[in-house]
Amino acid sequence: MRTFLIAGNWKMNAAPGEAKILAEEITGLWKGQTFTSEALLCPPFISIPAVAAAFQGTPFKVGAQNVHTENDGAYTGEISTSMLKDAGCEYVIVGHSERREYFHESDELVARKAKKVIDDRLKAIVCVGEVLSERKEGIHEDVVRRQVDAVLSHLGEDLSDNLVIAYEPVWAIGTGETATPEQAQEMHHFIRELIKGHWGEARSAKVRILYGGSMKPDNAGELLSQPDVDGGLIGGASLKAGSYSEILKISETV
Ligand code: PGA
Repeated sequence: MRTFLIAGNWKMNAAPGEAKILAEEITGLWKGQTFTSEALLCPPFISIPAVAAAFQGTPFKVGAQNVHTENDGAYTGEISTSMLKDAGCEYVIVGHSERREYFHESDELVARKAKKVIDDRLKAIVCVGEVLSERKEGIHEDVVRRQVDAVLSHLGEDLSDNLVIAYEPVWAIGTGETATPEQAQEMHHFIRELIKGHWGEARSAKVRILYGGSMKPDNAGELLSQPDVDGGLIGGASLKAGSYSEILKISETV
């Protein structure tokens, strides 16, 4: 049986005080109940300690939304893997489309970040996905192939256990428009085949591929039912304890 990863990306929302309340609301909804999926929330850097404290003694995990490639030094405004580990993070989102677009992160930089995260024994959630014009032109698979290949060619296959890929069609992020379950499955299968090409069938079956882009309680069931969809990366709907929790609950029944 698959173990889903239900990951929330709070983006630049939830200051420490709000983050603490939200994290406590989420754990409160699961008090005394267990689940088999892996539940992860990624607050802004400054709110990580508050969320880590709220999750203490619960199965919920905390992660970060970005990281630098160096250990320490003169990189004003940046955060390293060792700092994230010290703060209690287990996962780091890398190469989100908003970072690629607004902060000009290249495939090469995203690949180096992913390697740094995994080398330092954290898990990387590497985001890939095409923009609307690329889908309309029919080059979405080429774009995703380029993004996935850049990462896989930087990583040894022995590092594959700590790699998660998130397919997030950019046109579906924050727009309320979701890829159909068929579109998601088609791309997830394509990504699985790419991984297979690099590392073989057994390893490719173990790499989790998340779907992201307007995942909500009312579409999560269908998306998570697709054979190659191993979880979700959830933005807007993870900012409400009820809707995040509902998606987690749905993952338990798929
Ligand atoms: P969304 O964001 O769920 O709000 O579309 C997903 C993401 O950007 O990770």
